[in-house]
Amino acid sequence: LLQEDTGPNLILVGMMGTGKSTVSRILAQELGYHLIDMDEEIERLEGRSIADIFTQHGEEYFREAEAAALRSICSAKGQVISTGGGSVLRSVNCDLMLSSGLVVALTAVPEVIIERVSGNPDRPLLAGGVEDRVRRIMEERRDAYKFAHVEVDTSHLSAAEVASMILAHYR
Ligand code: S3P
Repeated sequence: LLQEDTGPNLILVGMMGTGKSTVSRILAQELGYHLIDMDEEIERLEGRSIADIFTQHGEEYFREAEAAALRSICSAKGQVISTGGGSVLRSVNCDLMLSSGLVVALTAVPEVIIERVSGNPDRPLLAGGVEDRVRRIMEERRDAYKFAHVEVDTSHLSAAEVASMILAHYR
């Protein structure tokens, strides 16, 4: 029987716009687990928005802050963790995730991702042309999410459907 604060973490990885935040909220509710949103955690620790961190310090600084936040978060259990889309770019982060719980990769076709992220301006990597940027980043990260234990294509599913598929793997 899985219990709060003792069960392995449930960690969602995937491109921006694959539904990590929405799905992780449902999962945390269902399991009675703490919900940790890595981007929010970084914003809290740094005292500024992700966009400001990128503008003021650059991507490399953000990646360091992200790795540090992940190390700290993964030291606890019984959490649903929604990661930033680029957190998988460091293999040390992937190893940490794999050893801290069930890692689930959410995927979606480019058209769906483009539609989902179009309304959200707070993503520095997409500044200057959502469509081109999404396609290029997806190309660059083609294999980056394959390390996960489980993969779910969210393109044609509701967040609730995705959550129940994940729960079936976790329970
Ligand atoms: C990023 C994804 C963002 C955020 C930052 C960089 C990325 O998180 O961490 O803008 O490199 O894919 P979401 O995946 O929650 O949008």
